[in-house]
Parts: sequence; structure tokens; C-alpha cells
Amino acid sequence: MEIKSAVFVISNTEVAKCPVSVLPEYAFIGRSNVGKSSLINMLCNRKSLAKTSVKPGKTQLINHFLINQNWYLVDLPGYGYAKVAKEQREKWNVFIQQYILKRSNLVCLMVLIDSRISAQKIDLEFMRWLGKNSIPFVIVFTKIDKLSKRQFSDNITAYTLELEKFWEELPLCFYTSAEDKTGRTELLAFIESTNKLF
Ligand code: GTP
Ligand code: MG
Repeated sequence: MEIKSAVFVISNTEVAKCPVSVLPEYAFIGRSNVGKSSLINMLCNRKSLAKTSVKPGKTQLINHFLINQNWYLVDLPGYGYAKVAKEQREKWNVFIQQYILKRSNLVCLMVLIDSRISAQKIDLEFMRWLGKNSIPFVIVFTKIDKLSKRQFSDNITAYTLELEKFWEELPLCFYTSAEDKTGRTELLAFIESTNKLF
């Protein structure tokens, strides 16, 4: 799929104030700094459509981007960033959970996992929570440009073993780099085919 237009629409903390939900949408979630905003920019071929930062905790709101005038990409705040005050973290958790549970046109959540790091409890528990609530999701491994071929294959094998402890059937996985655009074609093809089912 070609990205012909990508337009920022609105930021907010309330699912009720998100754009009227008639178009399919895909939201990016994962730990702070995993590369959610960078991946959105990479998919859209734009440098700073979504704001990125070397410091975790950059994205703090639900951000809607309208793509090709017929589907949405959504940038969400990261979870699990220890330096954010507990109160603020709780606030994010509440509105992100509400968004995930109530947004009827959310066709698939993209759960981003840093390919360099071993499986983290917070991500595994989050995916179990999605499963319990019947929220469709895929896993998107990020920053694979930072790994050698050997490290990549070792890390993905280890992660898969960890997933198999809980999931009978593994979620669909994508392997990406915002740096060199690996995985862009695959992710856009997935979105295109999923849009057709909406
Ligand atoms: P929060 O909004 O704080 O939750 O973070 P985020 O998940 O949106 O991460 P963001 O896209 O802001 O990226 C965090 C840092 O990782 C930035 O310094 C990015 O340049 C870097 N980064 C993101 N993706 C990649 C990647 O694929 N490869 C490399 N090498 N660096 C990346
Ligand atoms: Mg971000």
C-alpha cells in the first residue's frame, strides 16, 4: 500500500473525544521508548509526524493520524516507565485501558517489543490482559537494526519460547526497524488486507 497522505487529527485522553469511529484504526502500544512514534513515522515516510524522543515518556496522549483519508494510526503513551509519577502512570493506565476496551473501530493493536531485550513481565502480562478481553493484537519487534543476525535469531527464538508457555497459538509477529525501514512493506500489507475486512 502506498501512503498518499498522513494528517494529524487530534490528541486527547478520552475515548469519547476520539474522532467519530467509522474508519478502521490501528494503535501502537508498548513500553516507553520502544519506538512507537518512530514506527508511525517510518510507516508514513515522515520524519516528525509523531513526536519522538531519546528520553522515555514523550507521548502522553492518545494521538490520531488519518492515513489516505480512510484509516487511522494511533500513537499511545508508553507503559512501565518508572520515572513517571505513580499518579500520572495510573491516569495513563485508566485512559489507555478505556481506549482499548471501548474503541469499537480498533481493529488491531500493535504491541511493540524491543528486539534487544529479553521477555519482560509487564509485556507478557499486558498481552494476557488483551487475550482475556478478546482484543486482537499482533507483536511488532522493533530496533532490529541494532542486532547482528545471530543475536536477532537467538532473541526471537527465546521470545517465542516464552510466548509458547502461555499461548497455544502464537500472535502474528513483525520484525521492524524505523532506522532502515525493515518490515514496512509487511506491516502496510497487513493493514491493507485487514482494512478490507472492516
Ligand atoms: P514514548 O512516547 O516515550 O513512550 O516512546 P516511543 O515508544 O514512542 O519511542 P520513540 O519512537 O520516541 O523512540 C525512542 C528512541 O528510540 C528514539 O531515540 C528513537 O530514535 C529510537 N528508535 C526508535 N525506533 C528505532 C529503531 O528501529 N532503530 C533504532 N536504532 N532506534 C530506534
Ligand atoms: Mg512516543
